[in-house]
Amino acid sequence: MAERMRCAVVIGNSDGIGLAFTRRLLADGWRVAGVSRRDNGIGVPTYAHHTVDVTAPDYSEVLAKAIDELDGVDLCVYAAGIGEPVDLADLEAQTRTLEVNLIGAARTVATVVPRMVAAGDGHLIGLSSMADRMVSGDAPGYAGSKAGLSSYLMGLSAALRGQGVSVTTVRFGFVDTKMAKGPVRPLMMTVDRAVDVLVRCVRNRPVLVSRPRRAALLTTLLAPLTRPRR
Ligand SMILES: NC(=O)c1ccc[n+]([C@@H]2O[C@H](COP(=O)([O-])OP(=O)(O)OC[C@H]3O[C@@H](n4cnc5c(N)ncnc54)[C@H](OP(=O)(O)O)[C@@H]3O)[C@@H](O)[C@H]2O)c1
Repeated sequence: MAERMRCAVVIGNSDGIGLAFTRRLLADGWRVAGVSRRDNGIGVPTYAHHTVDVTAPDYSEVLAKAIDELDGVDLCVYAAGIGEPVDLADLEAQTRTLEVNLIGAARTVATVVPRMVAAGDGHLIGLSSMADRMVSGDAPGYAGSKAGLSSYLMGLSAALRGQGVSVTTVRFGFVDTKMAKGPVRPLMMTVDRAVDVLVRCVRNRPVLVSRPRRAALLTTLLAPLTRPRR
């Protein structure tokens, strides 16, 4: 009898880390379903793409269908994310950042985790950020979304203890994608290195991973200084 292929769904994989990780999973013999607003041009029989916005009313339905077309879901990676500078005359972009980065992840969890619990196995990885401990006057929606995401995913990890389902929160510093577009990007990682981190997460299922380590140490030291004084 042919061995069952491991199945993954990657949300936010038309570009950046999600796209590179999708390619790695396929090269490693996984069957993958991908979700983003744009197609990513991957044309192999073990890959299916679903174009939808994670904030759209039918997102959960599309995601459920994508999973049902797979043979179960061993791994779900939430890599969808945006970050916009603040404009005090129009805070819609901050609201949207919270909707994509945090509520989109929560809707994903609500679709995926019950299936994993029913199967008694599964692994959810969420791409958070070292911004989760920062107060940001430049991009408050981004930092707020990542603070909420890290806290929610770690809480879920605790809630799922003993169910066979793991949740990993990944806190990257700067990774060389179009998202890291600012002029100052200390200790920036290549996308390949970020993918290597995710591959190790799949193998070891840790609760929390912060990379690069030196950037994590720096942000821990700097975080208290980002709080407004009055
Ligand atoms: N790059 C960094 O420095 C860095 C650092 C720390 C954490 N992260 C986190 O890592 C994750 C991936 O970031 P990245 O650098 O790979 O960014 P990226 O290159 O901009 O890719 C973001 C992905 O999210 C998808 N996406 C955005 N809005 C979406 C929506 N409304 N519905 C569905 N998909 C959506 C995009 O696809 P479509 O546009 O086709 O929808 C794209 O595939 C993000 O959560 C980010 O916050 C990145």
